[in-house]
Amino acid sequence: MNDADKMNEACLIEARGVDKSYTTKHEIIHVLSETYLKVFPGEVLGIVGASGVGKSTLLHVLGGLDKPAKGQIIFMGKNIYKQGDSFLEKFRNIHIGFVFQFFNLLPDFTALENVMFPALIQNKKVSIAKERAEYLLCEVGMKDRMNHAPGELSGGEGQRVALARGLMNQPDLLLADEPTGNLDTFASDQLIELIRRLNKEFNQTFVLVTHSQRVAGQLDRVLELIDGNVNSVNQSLVI
Ligand SMILES: Nc1ncnc2c1ncn2[C@@H]1O[C@H](COP(=O)(O)OP(=O)(O)OP(=O)(O)O)[C@@H](O)[C@H]1O
Ligand SMILES: [Mg+2]
Repeated sequence: MNDADKMNEACLIEARGVDKSYTTKHEIIHVLSETYLKVFPGEVLGIVGASGVGKSTLLHVLGGLDKPAKGQIIFMGKNIYKQGDSFLEKFRNIHIGFVFQFFNLLPDFTALENVMFPALIQNKKVSIAKERAEYLLCEVGMKDRMNHAPGELSGGEGQRVALARGLMNQPDLLLADEPTGNLDTFASDQLIELIRRLNKEFNQTFVLVTHSQRVAGQLDRVLELIDGNVNSVNQSLVI
C-alpha cells in the first residue's frame, strides 16, 4: 500500500494535536506538543527518536495510560479520554496490549501466570488462559522458563514474557516499548520475525518503539519523534 492509499484509509488509532508535559519541583518539561499520529490497521509501525524525546510518553498516551493536557486520542471514532473510567479500563484490557519498556511483570508470579493475567481479568476460563499462555511463551522461545519468577529471568527473557502477555487477549493494537532492547541480534531478529508472522497471519497491528536501526529497517513504516513532533522517516534510508 502506498502512502496516498494509506491517507485515504480509516485509521485504527489517531493522536490529534496532543500536548503532554511533566511538572517537577524545579521545572515544566514539555514533551509532546501538538503531536499528530495515525496508526493504520494491519501495519507494523516503528517510532524512533533520541533518548528522552518522549517515545514512551507517546505510547502511554496512545494506550490510555496517561491523559494528555490537550488534544485527543481517537480510537474507532471515539476520543478515549472523554468516555469515562470504565471505557478506558475496557479499552486497555480488550483493545490494547502493552509491552512496557521495563516489562512491569508481577514479581511474585511465574512467567506463565504473568502471561495468563490479562485473560483472567476478562474472566476467561483458567484452562483456556493457560493453554494460550503456554502457546505464546513457546512462540517467544520461553518454553523452558515458564515456571520462573521474573527475578529468575534475564532481561531479554523478561522482555519476551512481556510480549507474550501483551498478546494474550489478541488486542487490536499492540504497543511495545523497545521490545528488543535487551536482546542480541539473533534473538531480536527472531522476535521481529514472530511479530511479522502475527501481523501477516492475524493482521495484528503493532507500534514498536525502537532504538535499533536494524529493527526499524524491518518495519512497514517508521516515524521519528523530534521536539514533540512526529516526522516520517524514509525507509530506504534505514539500514
Ligand atoms: N513522570 C515523569 N515526571 C517527570 N518527567 C518525566 C516523567 N516521565 C518522563 N519524564 C521526562 O519526560 C521526557 C520524555 O520521557 P520518555 O520516557 O517519554 O522518553 P523516551 O523517548 O521514551 O526515552 P528513552 O529512549 O530513554 O526510553 C524525559 O525528559 C523524561 O525525563
Ligand atoms: Mg522510553
